[in-house]
Amino acid sequence: MARRPLVMGNWKLNGSKAFTKELIEGLKRELDGVTGCDVAIAPPVMYLAEAEATLASCGCDCTSKNVIALGSQNVDVNVSGAFTGDISTAMLKDFDAKYIIIGHSERRTYHKESDEFIAKKFAALKDAGLVPVLCIGETEAENEAGQTEAVCARQLDAVLNTLGAEAFNGAVIAYEPVWAIGTGKSATPAQAQAVHAFIRGHIAKHSQAVADQVIIQYGGSVNDANAAELFTQPDIDGALVGGASLKAPAFAVIVKAAE
Ligand code: G3H
Repeated sequence: MARRPLVMGNWKLNGSKAFTKELIEGLKRELDGVTGCDVAIAPPVMYLAEAEATLASCGCDCTSKNVIALGSQNVDVNVSGAFTGDISTAMLKDFDAKYIIIGHSERRTYHKESDEFIAKKFAALKDAGLVPVLCIGETEAENEAGQTEAVCARQLDAVLNTLGAEAFNGAVIAYEPVWAIGTGKSATPAQAQAVHAFIRGHIAKHSQAVADQVIIQYGGSVNDANAAELFTQPDIDGALVGGASLKAPAFAVIVKAAE
């Protein structure tokens, strides 16, 4: 089945108001005319207002302001109330954010987020009509111990067993081997494809139709030199890009490779 790829930039803890404006203006120029790929960016939430305004304020006829969707790197499970420091789905919707990253390995590691907690975030996003971008993937030690499939299955099952396969309708999965994140050591296209096929097959045990439509991005040292080859693989539907999303020309090459 033909799936429309999604390339999303995860800016992580980088940027400023000026950087946000400059990068988005560059992206709008570079991505003008892109039609064959969905594109999203997730700046730090501090800069969503700047990002929204820059996306909207286009003095030219370019189409790219309609191409780039906004996203967030995180969300919390509570909607309002005494939850100091939290960010709600409603707040993200207020900025027109659509694609929300959850389960990133950096949050699993540094903030001790569990599979169960991430499943609750997934549910909150579905309830709010937002698109979860569920990151899964194994560490280097798990990879070397031959546990890649078991880890991915466990992380998927936290959602599948609580919300059911239908929750993945319209959702996105990002396979991000932890050993490939920010290391310059991307998985090879064949390695990534094998895990993507496993992930799709795991969903298919519950629903073939849901598995056929779910977008599975690859993430981990994707750049302008290796993206095209990764995207030749049948189960790789775009990328979640960290470092290379901070430069408009490199990110644009990745987007165009996915088209
Ligand atoms: O969310 C993005 C991933 O963590 C990949 O980051 O492209 O810098 O390796 P990276």
